[in-house]
Amino acid sequence: MSNLPYIVGNWKMNGVRAMLAEARSIDRAASRYNKVQVALAPPATLIHRLQEAVENIGVGGQDCRAEESGAFTGDIAAPMLKDAGADFVIVGHSERRAGYGETDEMVRAKAEAALEAGLTVIVCVGETEAERDSGNAEAVVTRQVAGSVPQTKNAADRLSIAYEPVWAIGTGRVPSVADVGSMHCAIRKQLQDIYAKKAAAIRILYGGSVKAENAQELLGAENVGGALVGGASLLADSFIAIVDAASPAKAE
Ligand code: PGA
Repeated sequence: MSNLPYIVGNWKMNGVRAMLAEARSIDRAASRYNKVQVALAPPATLIHRLQEAVENIGVGGQDCRAEESGAFTGDIAAPMLKDAGADFVIVGHSERRAGYGETDEMVRAKAEAALEAGLTVIVCVGETEAERDSGNAEAVVTRQVAGSVPQTKNAADRLSIAYEPVWAIGTGRVPSVADVGSMHCAIRKQLQDIYAKKAAAIRILYGGSVKAENAQELLGAENVGGALVGGASLLADSFIAIVDAASPAKAE
């Protein structure tokens, strides 16, 4: 997989067809940044149209079911995302872990199904505020990594991790750059235990209140290979400002 900074917008449950105009603006602007890999995960209802509307950015799903098909009303299988034009999927987002009781085991099964379907995958992990306050953040997150990442052959080639502290999502609060760096190093170490040398190619994204104002600093932390962006990805201006901050030309 590429080693360019990877900036992924997660639109969550936001966006109807009118939002395709924003995606087109993002796509046009992204064409100017050939040293950054840019992608959007719109609601599933927009994947197909969005994929047809863009040329320079990746398009992905926000979740998938582990099973390939069956009696699972309302759910979406990984091969369906692929068929709709997705090239990646986010799994294990904290809003799904907390809201739908998704366990590490379920997240791993989803990630493996996604790889099997030919998608790349972003596995999300992150501690709650109580877990951080009690000094358990690294233990929680490395345990999530160990339990949630795919174990299938060559999995490391098509895998990214997103470290998203639950307390930083949508709150405007962010960890210190030092805390981000040390968590990303702990995640890297855990990945090395699992994938040995192949772990080096896995990008570890930071997510949680990434904005134009803090992006350059957060992206400069050790072992940070990109960002997973929620709120600020809904408008082209704020999202592209983050892409701009990720551009190596900007690095000091
Ligand atoms: P936020 O969301 O950027 O709005 O904090 C990040 C995420 O949940 O991926």
